Amino acid sequence: MDKKKYTIEELRKKIDKTKLPKHVAIIMDGNGRWAKKRFLPRNYGHQEGMERVIEIVGAASNLGIKHLSLYAFSTENWKRPMDEIQGLMKILVQYIRRELDKLHKNNVKVNIMGDIEKLPELAKEEVKRAVETTSKNTGMILNIGLNYGGRDEIIRGVKKILKDVELGKISIENINEDIFKNYLYTNGQPDPDLLIRPSGELRISNFMLYQIAYTEFWFSDILWPDFTEEHLLLSILDYQKRNRRFGGI
Ligand code: IPE
Ligand code: IPE
Ligand code: MG
Repeated sequence: MDKKKYTIEELRKKIDKTKLPKHVAIIMDGNGRWAKKRFLPRNYGHQEGMERVIEIVGAASNLGIKHLSLYAFSTENWKRPMDEIQGLMKILVQYIRRELDKLHKNNVKVNIMGDIEKLPELAKEEVKRAVETTSKNTGMILNIGLNYGGRDEIIRGVKKILKDVELGKISIENINEDIFKNYLYTNGQPDPDLLIRPSGELRISNFMLYQIAYTEFWFSDILWPDFTEEHLLLSILDYQKRNRRFGGI
């Protein structure tokens, strides 16, 4: 497909609304390289990345995507320099203060994946406010990965299910995939149909390891601060051409 030929309006029309991915997950990567290309500090890239979060959340929700999962900060990202981490936390607070009213008005429900107890106090408070404010909303569920790791999530789930075994709420014999998935941060939500990773890296970096067993991947060289609605629409159009077999024929 000639990607330059279509306007956003035309791309929107080309999408088959009856075959929308229910759940789209995105590894938002490439902010640092985007800034470096412009001889700017890395946090400028994160700042611009936040503008794309706003754009993509709006576009996904307007399109009718029911679940959107965004990887914002991994359990491994604590290895970064303190000033970069502080910058990212500041941007998180900014994002919530700027966008929470709009998210709420648009009926978006914010769900956090990851242990936010480790976040700085202010970020923790704002994140909790976003979750509480939108807890009764029935539109798109926006999962935000914060201090999130896929392995960490699975181990946490195992501990939680063992607690329930200890309490007699469930017996070991009854543990199966349908039950175990409810012990993950995505409790009750379908698995991602489509996982997008911009920035040219061809890896998963510990994102949603349990949930992506049969997810379709879409990799691209675009850096996250350059990732617009157009790219989201192109990824969905590609997704709609895939033949998903789930192990069948
Ligand atoms: C993604 O961009 C944002 C986070 C991981 C928080 P990076 O900061 O990883 O950007 P690159 O990969 O160094 O370009
Ligand atoms: C993945 O990006 C984490 C987030 C997007 C939050 P990284 O930049 O941390 O991943 P690696 O280090 O390239 O694998
Ligand atoms: Mg990166």
